[in-house]
Amino acid sequence: MELPMYKEAEYTKGWFGLALFSDVHLGATDIQEQRLKDDLKRSCDEGRRILFNGDMVEAILPTDRKRYTPSRARTNRDDVLNELTYYTVDTLAPYVDYIDLIGTGNHDDAPIKYNGYDIVGAVVTLLNTKRSKSLGNIHRAGYQGYARYSVGNMLPSGLKHKSAFTIYHHHGAGGASPVTKGMIDFNRIVYSHDADLYWLAHKHVGTQDPHIIRDRLTQQNRYEVRRSQAVFTPGYKNATNFSPKDGGYNYDYSDHFYSMQACGYAVVNLYQDYSTKLMKKDFEVISR
Ligand SMILES: [Fe+2]
Repeated sequence: MELPMYKEAEYTKGWFGLALFSDVHLGATDIQEQRLKDDLKRSCDEGRRILFNGDMVEAILPTDRKRYTPSRARTNRDDVLNELTYYTVDTLAPYVDYIDLIGTGNHDDAPIKYNGYDIVGAVVTLLNTKRSKSLGNIHRAGYQGYARYSVGNMLPSGLKHKSAFTIYHHHGAGGASPVTKGMIDFNRIVYSHDADLYWLAHKHVGTQDPHIIRDRLTQQNRYEVRRSQAVFTPGYKNATNFSPKDGGYNYDYSDHFYSMQACGYAVVNLYQDYSTKLMKKDFEVISR
């Protein structure tokens, strides 16, 4: 597992916001790219920190006998991994100062395994050269891991009234879940990992479980009830494939799935309690 992300952050008027993206599949010919750009811009305009949970790139290469067909080619270039690297950097550059984490999905993994080339690593390295130095680096995350924000008020003596918000992120695995829409995956990760928010991707669904309730006795013998939440972010693939109607036929691997694919991202709103100055226990996760 890659190292966890740890970042300090400030409230703005008692609020701190995140925007969770995944499965943007840059380079694919069947994504809603304008919607992605609109959603990224809105996230920046709202002052949210942006995180990506894998499948940054489509990266289905001509050597992939299972999935590649010529209709998947963006251009006629042969250096497809170079092209995809620079295309991804150019697409994300306008938002570079808002991005905190980029994780790795199965599409990003495949070129590492079969071609010895790490697109996410290259993209993060190049994006970090474009980023404001005071922000520190974008965190390159693995297939799964933890990310923690310590949120407080920045005083001359440093960040005070800090509260931690912990995310466990996993890109996801396995095929589509047309009936359960990922609820079994939630239960798998909730069983083994401890976090405020569990975040999955990969299945192109937008399922949420806002009420993961657990109780415990604290070290001080106090009875405590805690609520965690879980969310899938769907990504930006088209709901379904439309083949050209000129007599041709474009093969689409995702046509093999039963259900239509969801589209979009999720936001997280964290609030500061005005009296204690600490983070309110209840937070919002909203699918958009
Ligand atoms: Fe995936």
